[in-house]
Amino acid sequence: MNVITDIKVSPQLAGGELWFKDAIIYQLHVKAFADSNNDGIGDFAGLTEKLDYLHDLGVTTLWLLPFYPSPGRDDGYDISDYRRINPDFGTMQDFRRFMQEAKRRNLRVITELVINHTSDEHSWFKRARRSKPGSDARNWYVWSDTDQRYLDTRVIFKDTEKSNWTWDQSANAFYWHRFFSHQPDLNYDNPRVFRAIVQVMKKWLDLGVDGFRLDAIPYLIERDGTNNENLPETHAIIRRIRAELDAYRSDKVLLAEANQWPEDVSDYFGNGDECHMAYHFPLMPRIYMAIAQEDRFPISDILRQTPDIPNNCQWALFLRNHDELTLEMVTDEERDYMYRVYATDPHARINLGIRRRLAPLLANSRRKIELLNTLLFSMPGTPIIYYGDEIGMGDNFYLGDRNGCRTPMQWSSDRNAGFSRANPQQLYLPITIDPEYHYEAVNVENHQKNLSSLLWWMRRVIAMRKNFKAFSRGSLEFLYPDNAKVLAFLRRYEKETIVVVVNLSRFAQSVELDLSRFAGCVPMEVFSRNLFRPIKKSPYVITLGPHAYYWFALQAQTNGRRVSKKHVLPTINAPAELHTLLDDGRRAQLEQAILPNYIQTCRWFGSKARTLRDLKVVEQPAVSSETNAARFWFVVVSYVDGPTETYALPVKIASGNAARAVSRSAPHAIIARLAGAEETILYDAVWDAEFRSQLFEAIVQRQIMKGRAGDLVGVPGKAMAADSSVALGKSQVLGGEQSNSSMLFDNKFFLKLYRKLEDGVNPDVEITRFLTERANFSNVPAFAGALEYRHEKSEPTVVCLLQARP
Ligand code: GLC
Ligand code: CA
Repeated sequence: MNVITDIKVSPQLAGGELWFKDAIIYQLHVKAFADSNNDGIGDFAGLTEKLDYLHDLGVTTLWLLPFYPSPGRDDGYDISDYRRINPDFGTMQDFRRFMQEAKRRNLRVITELVINHTSDEHSWFKRARRSKPGSDARNWYVWSDTDQRYLDTRVIFKDTEKSNWTWDQSANAFYWHRFFSHQPDLNYDNPRVFRAIVQVMKKWLDLGVDGFRLDAIPYLIERDGTNNENLPETHAIIRRIRAELDAYRSDKVLLAEANQWPEDVSDYFGNGDECHMAYHFPLMPRIYMAIAQEDRFPISDILRQTPDIPNNCQWALFLRNHDELTLEMVTDEERDYMYRVYATDPHARINLGIRRRLAPLLANSRRKIELLNTLLFSMPGTPIIYYGDEIGMGDNFYLGDRNGCRTPMQWSSDRNAGFSRANPQQLYLPITIDPEYHYEAVNVENHQKNLSSLLWWMRRVIAMRKNFKAFSRGSLEFLYPDNAKVLAFLRRYEKETIVVVVNLSRFAQSVELDLSRFAGCVPMEVFSRNLFRPIKKSPYVITLGPHAYYWFALQAQTNGRRVSKKHVLPTINAPAELHTLLDDGRRAQLEQAILPNYIQTCRWFGSKARTLRDLKVVEQPAVSSETNAARFWFVVVSYVDGPTETYALPVKIASGNAARAVSRSAPHAIIARLAGAEETILYDAVWDAEFRSQLFEAIVQRQIMKGRAGDLVGVPGKAMAADSSVALGKSQVLGGEQSNSSMLFDNKFFLKLYRKLEDGVNPDVEITRFLTERANFSNVPAFAGALEYRHEKSEPTVVCLLQARP
């Protein structure tokens, strides 16, 4: 059963072909994210500056909306040149830098391959309309003398377009388009079109992108007597694109935008030889329906109808995106219902959908927002977050088309929400100032400061999702409890079993789950790590507050109460040299795997219940100039759910007999083994007598140990400083494991090593020092000195306190 003792920190780019299954995707428009040159339009340089924010959120993959040159009449989906960057967003060099910085943070990048149509300003179209009918250049697009062909084909943008044909004066013919009339469809019956698109794909692969969203792919081929959607010839084209992709690069993905019913969408996976991923379009509106009707049926029903997909494929799940919330894949009654509930204001409707963001759709109810995200992160598929929804941004449906959901990202309460320093009138779209979603309140900076904000909740949920492969790779099995307001299902993968229980109702509910086959297991609520009552053969009763949700990891009862803490010693492949141990390569292993696991086993590590986000060793001063002298590591630990902390961890390397002695006397102090012929270990130096004397000396002799950003400085107390004759006898570690570490020297001096380092005044030190040096109070251990970390412009931090016995 699952036990989360191994908390993963900043996982490396998940290796292997199937990385996209474990991905968390963040969808954004470059123009909407951050404006670096203050012209009112976001750009690649601005986005690059915000990569840390995205990394900290925990997403692993960015999906960028079209950033190519374009007249901008369909927000960039009307491309006039596939091979360049829209100059508004920067240069190719900016793009390269962005890719580099993204890779440095282990973020993958998916871009758009809009292959169904181009802009009418693309040079291919300009050439086609000038060329002779029947010529090759003309046949890059689909022409007709009459607009009465293919009449069974639906019009998608029905608010703006009357027909899929538009008359072209200079060509003296109609051209075919499934979307806006300024977006002529490419003709895939012409092999040159296919070859040109493959060249485009290769160009962006050369630039390092990890995959492509294939925009509007059901419509590539037209045939008389059909509705021109999902034709076998269209699938053949996609299979060939996939073959070209695989032959050119490994580990790259295709994501299908095919707004179709489940059977038809799943065809875009082929036999695992078309797209790797496809959006689950039918599921999305049904999530909204389920919460509005307070009934699980819409969700369980559509997932029941969803065919199994090949092993190397994955659904892509989303709650919202840059388009309207599409209601094409629901029945007429369902659509009416959705409009009634979610688009009471007629302005909110467009085409067959609703142009609103997540928070306004859910009436800004935090509970509902959490609930829907919980589903997004626990149902089978790779979740996609639409930029701004992680802070509950609002929208503005007065802006026309779908622009109300595409307004600038809100970073702070500064001018233009911190997005740009341009004149507010110059922004590509105005910032949201709706009173309920005003950028002065809804922005990253405010959310960052408040640990209870939606942003922090999102970080926690993302981190938790990443802890369980069952979410990204596991099977799905619905439980059907009598209470239909409760949705409950299992996600299982290898040894992991997760039970997801969700209350779709605004009132409290009680539910009986049949978990009899897990009798003997204990459900652990994963966010609190609280253990719930063990499962028996009888129905398992759970009560849920309004819109409440639980993720339970099932654990075998034997290690239920006390999660097994058995610590398997990791091995570092490195020479036995402390001064090079944190060099490239090994540093990552230590910071991302070894130390996060080690500190979990230490009594002095007080934040065991928190979810680690990141761990870094920021200082490593040596206690003496000898090559293998012990070093003081300062370990900075940040969490998904709490303020950052710094811990002191003195370390040393021992080999042979010395190593064996530590293994016998203080096995818990061993951090890792070093590969090599002889037994060699890295361990907590407190357990080394030489280190202990060095500490003592350092204080008494006013030594300075040089660090990177500051120094450790010995400060003897007055009496100590006066008496240079203090000789050092035997030392020992006191009282085993405590929240700080204490040592006794020759039965005369106590030395306390603080583990969690706090900036500024240390009350212990202040009081003992005052009582000793000012009040001459002799009944307490006297202040004998301290070891302080001094760094620029701030109060020294006390690392050790030395006291003499009364
Ligand atoms: C896709 C895009 C949408 C665009 C359409 C036509 O559906 O998501 O934004 O308008 O293609 O290019
Ligand atoms: Ca700009």
